[in-house]
Amino acid sequence: MLEITFRQMTPSDIDAVTELDKKSFGDDAWSRYIFAYETRNVEADYIVAEFEEKIIACAGMHFYDEEAYITTIAVAAEFRRRGIATKMLADLINSAKSYGAIFMSLEVRVNNFPSINLYEKFGFKILEREKNYYADGEDAFIMGLKL
Ligand code: COA
Repeated sequence: MLEITFRQMTPSDIDAVTELDKKSFGDDAWSRYIFAYETRNVEADYIVAEFEEKIIACAGMHFYDEEAYITTIAVAAEFRRRGIATKMLADLINSAKSYGAIFMSLEVRVNNFPSINLYEKFGFKILEREKNYYADGEDAFIMGLKL
């Protein structure tokens, strides 16, 4: 078993998380300024996974009153299919519940089957399809979960 640890994202993680995001999302990736902002955002919760002091995954959400919104989830390619996203999503769902959220939502590219499978495993349902949601014209599914 790999010794992977999970903790809150801090300002010292910003460069590593930005690099991971670029590798995972390409042109859709966030700038380091967005991650820097998110480390100060009191309506957000971000967690990272570490292996041998290297950031290998990141996931986060925003929460507003009774709703939580997953903003990102990414696992470094060489660490996928080991349950890391499952652990982080379970942690975010538990945090959202503890903040009082009763509903969680997210959007995902319609051809992103690994992610859609992951979300469906947790009971997320496809609520609607947003046409031309992404800059390259791909549609998004809006998915939701009653907590
Ligand atoms: N093909 C099909 N289903 C997949 C999959 C793949 N390549 N990878 C994950 N899944 C689904 C499966 O249902 C899996 O459960 P199983 O292993 O029991 O079959 C479930 O997700 C959980 O897998 P897990 O190992 O926890 O996921 P992961 O740590 O590999 O991370 C992603 C999954 C989607 C976060 C990862 O592939 C990733 O970082 N992708 C690029 C970034 C991205 O698209 N993020 C989501 C944006 S909405």
